[in-house]
Amino acid sequence: MSNIGSYDDRLKDFSWSIAENELGYKPGDTINIGWYCTDRICQLGKADKTALIWEGRDEATTRKYTFNDLRILSNTFGSFLSSLGINNGDRVCLFMDKAPELYIGFLGILKIGAVAQPLFSAFGDESLFVRLENAGTKAVITSRKHAPKVQKILDKLPNLEHIIVVDDEGKKALKPKEIAFSLDQATPVENFEVYPTTAESHSLLHYTSGTTGQPKGVKHVHSSLISQYLTTKWVLDLQEDDIYWCTADPGWVTGTSYGIIGPWSLGVTQCVKDSGFSAEVWYRFIEKHKISMWYSAPTAIRSLMKAGNEVVKQFDLTSLRHLASVGEPLNAEAVVWSERIIGKPFHDTYWQTETGSMMITNFPGMKIRPGSMGKAFPGLTPALLDPDTFEPITEISKPGLIAFRYDWPARMRTYWNNQQTFDKKFKNGWYITGDRSTIDKDGYFWFIGRDDDVINTGGHLISPFEVESALLEHEAVAESAVVSKPDEINMEVVKAFVTLKPGFDPSQELELEIMNFIRKKLSPFAMPQEIEYMDLLPKTRSGKIMRRVLHAKEWGEEIGDISTLEND
Ligand code: WTA
Repeated sequence: MSNIGSYDDRLKDFSWSIAENELGYKPGDTINIGWYCTDRICQLGKADKTALIWEGRDEATTRKYTFNDLRILSNTFGSFLSSLGINNGDRVCLFMDKAPELYIGFLGILKIGAVAQPLFSAFGDESLFVRLENAGTKAVITSRKHAPKVQKILDKLPNLEHIIVVDDEGKKALKPKEIAFSLDQATPVENFEVYPTTAESHSLLHYTSGTTGQPKGVKHVHSSLISQYLTTKWVLDLQEDDIYWCTADPGWVTGTSYGIIGPWSLGVTQCVKDSGFSAEVWYRFIEKHKISMWYSAPTAIRSLMKAGNEVVKQFDLTSLRHLASVGEPLNAEAVVWSERIIGKPFHDTYWQTETGSMMITNFPGMKIRPGSMGKAFPGLTPALLDPDTFEPITEISKPGLIAFRYDWPARMRTYWNNQQTFDKKFKNGWYITGDRSTIDKDGYFWFIGRDDDVINTGGHLISPFEVESALLEHEAVAESAVVSKPDEINMEVVKAFVTLKPGFDPSQELELEIMNFIRKKLSPFAMPQEIEYMDLLPKTRSGKIMRRVLHAKEWGEEIGDISTLEND
């Protein structure tokens, strides 16, 4: 029996108080995610239950932590941060690979009432800089491997007081503002007064990219737990004996909402693998740890499909009970393939950094319509809006903008220092997601695409603006325009069109050099997979580059009205 039971019954008398009661929380009480994920689970009698099974890149390196270990170690991390003068409300960035310290540090930050700002460790110095500067970050928790990227931008970050290196152990000479901290060597803090955060206390700052402007810091608060707890329970169906694996990195929202908060607030054992994708490594990980619930992403599933069916047969995957996916459109073939070859279908889930928790999902027990995102979570009021009037569309299967009434606990509270952009997300009282979809006669949502120029490559949202700006910093580039192009595995990848400055000639070497430049500055996924040299970029008469024309060319679509084009 699944946790949700009957979806239709749950719709009837739904209230978020279901989650509040189970969490023993009453509105007005203190609520601290760090405490809920550790101390409370211990109080419920699960102190000795395994919370985390961590495996390094090298498969022989594993570490296990009980809930009591997590409780004590997060206390220890939290007290260390306090001893540095980090207080409630201060932003503390986590910038490292998926080491146990990342997870424990996250909980420690929340326990002192500070704000966790996780950033993906593959970010280059420019991506890191704009996010740390915007957040006014006070400390960065990192590793020896990634600390040099912080050092490189340190002079431009007056608010940054500490670079905490968790794996230094005094072996290397510390650089400016660096301080070594080892959880193994620190004196364990058994008792710790968790900061009394309340429902609206700021917990997390996740950065997400839009079409224009710099990335936006999405502000989440401690009461997001209420949505994250219940969606984990009802959609991921986590149960007492499950061994759970969320493949997402905590640098992204899936890795925190469902890679830390959801499973641990339910007291469930989870596995973490610190490695990139490899079909064999992943299947072996499932077999070895008898993973029963697996939350992954379409690009990974397509990569598994590409690796072939033979490799699946070499492993015993019968421990898998339930599978789910998020981040990009999950194509019907992937659902059918996983059911046929792995034995269980992936259940698609749709949500955003801004929503903080799942919005539209295929629930356990519900008939999956492959290719559909499923139905709205109980308690939500969804609609498809007409893009001109922003009024709900009543006609079945007519495309519209996915929107919700703004009333669930995990919703973002604002964009950090950018209330204006936040306000623009609303029309007629609806929160506009920026995605388009249809709804069929039975209430299933069918994703169509994004309503902006953001590129979703393998689940990573890339702002064309950020890549264009970075391209302009290369000495050879005069002008640039960035769009997506189709890709078999990642659905879409970044493609750049550039014009060169006088004195530079198009060549393959230059293309590689520019690609590398972007990879180092921004990230591997923001790196254009192809650079096309142009003599002129298509522009409107007012001089604005028309990405639309270039996009249509890449996707073989009609170009549409180009009457305002300057240069043809
Ligand atoms: C896209 C990730 C199709 C969508 C949790 C959304 C999806 C953006 C799906 C949010 C899905 C997410 N099907 N598209 N199941 N899930 N998306 O903020 O465009 O990194 O707005 O949050 O990813 O990406 P974000």
